[in-house]
Amino acid sequence: MKSTIALLPGDGIGPEVCVQARALIDAVATRFNHDFAIEEALIGGAAIDAHADPLPPATVAVCERADAVLLGAVGGPKWSDPNARVRPEQGLLKLRATLGVFANLRPVKPHPVAAKYSPLKPKLLNGVDLLFVRELTGGVYFGEKRREGDVAFDACRYSVQEVERVTRKAALLARGRSGKITHVDKANVLETSRLWRSTVTRVLRDEFPDIALEHVLVDAMAMHLLTKPAEFDVILTENLFGDILTDEASVLGGSMGLLPSASLGDGKAGLYEPIHGSAPDIAGRGIANPYATLLSVALLLRHSLGLDREAVAVEAAVSDALDARVLTRDLTRRNAVSTAEAGAWVVRRLAE
Ligand code: NAD
Ligand code: IPM
Ligand code: MN
Repeated sequence: MKSTIALLPGDGIGPEVCVQARALIDAVATRFNHDFAIEEALIGGAAIDAHADPLPPATVAVCERADAVLLGAVGGPKWSDPNARVRPEQGLLKLRATLGVFANLRPVKPHPVAAKYSPLKPKLLNGVDLLFVRELTGGVYFGEKRREGDVAFDACRYSVQEVERVTRKAALLARGRSGKITHVDKANVLETSRLWRSTVTRVLRDEFPDIALEHVLVDAMAMHLLTKPAEFDVILTENLFGDILTDEASVLGGSMGLLPSASLGDGKAGLYEPIHGSAPDIAGRGIANPYATLLSVALLLRHSLGLDREAVAVEAAVSDALDARVLTRDLTRRNAVSTAEAGAWVVRRLAE
C-alpha cells in the first residue's frame, strides 16, 4: 500500500524533531515493507519568511492530498511582535480548521522511568492512564476578535452540533477503555459551558447509556490532575481548557517532550503533532526531546493508516529507549543524550 504523509517541520525545535520522525517513518517502511511518500511543506514562521503567509496555498494542497499530516511546531520570538500582521500560530489554526480535525486526542500515560523525573510523588502516578479529548476547531480560538480603542474582544462560540460530534468521538473512545468520561467545563459562569453540559449529558444518555459521566469544573480539575490523576480516564473538554490542562498533565509524565497528539475529523487527513511548542529557549542546540514526535508517528500509523502493529512497534521502541535510560536533557542532566542520539536509538530498536 502506498501512503502519502505531509511533513510540516515548522519552527524552532520543530525541524530538529521532524528529522528524527522522518528517519523513523523510513525505518517503519523498511521493516514492515510499506511504501510511504513523504512530502515536506512550509508552515508557521518559516512560511511567513518565505511567502509572507503562515499557511501558503501550496502547503494546504500538500496536506489535502496526503493521507496524514505530521507537524513539528510553529512560532518563536522572531514572529511574536504583538502588532504583527500575521503570526505563525494562525497557520496552525487555519490548518486545523481546513482539515476539519475537531477532536484532539492527547494520551497521558506516564512511563515508569520518565515519571521518576516528575516533581509529583510516585504513589500519585501509579496507574495514571488519561486520554484527553480536546475540542479543536471551535471556542475562543475561532470566535470573532476585535479591538475598539483600548478594549479588546475574543468571542467564545460553540454550537450544539460542534459539541455533539466531539462527544460522540469521546464516547466511542471511552467504550474501548474504562467506560467513563469526565467532562470539564466552567458551567457556573460560562453560557458556552452550560450548552456543553446539557449537550454532553443528552448525547451520552440517549446514545451511550453504557458510559458513566461526571462533570467537573475546570478550576477544580486543574487541582485534581495533580492530587488524584489516577481517578480519571477520558477527559472531554473545550478548546482552551484542553490546551491548558494538557500542558499541566505533561508534568505527570516527566516532560512536555513526551506527549503526542492526534487530531481527527470526519474524512480528511488526520493531523499529528507533539503537544509542545517550538521551544525557542533550547532551539538550535540539538537537545530537544524527540519522543513526543516519534509517538505522534505511532498515532498517525494507527489512526490514519490503520497500521496498528506498526504503531505498537514504534511505541515499544520508545518505551524501550526510556527503559534503557536514553534520555534527553529535559529529563536528566546526567548522561543526557542529544536529539539525534535519542532518535537513532529508537530507529535502531525498531529495525531489530
Ligand atoms: P513550548 O512548549 O515551546 O516550551 C515550553 C517549555 O518546555 C520550554 O522550556 C521548552 O524548552 C520545553 N520543551 C518543550 N518541548 C520540549 C522538547 N521536545 N524537549 C525538551 N524541552 C521541551 O512553549 P512556549 O515556550 O510557551 O512557546 C514557544 C512557541 O511555541 C510560541 O510561539 C507558541 O505559540 C508555540 N507553540 C506552538 C505549538 C504548536 O506548534 N503545536 C504548541 C505550543 C506552543
Ligand atoms: C497547542 C498549541 C496551540 C494551541 C497554539 C500554538 C495555537 O499551544 O497545540 O497546544 O493553543 O492549540
Ligand atoms: Mn498548547
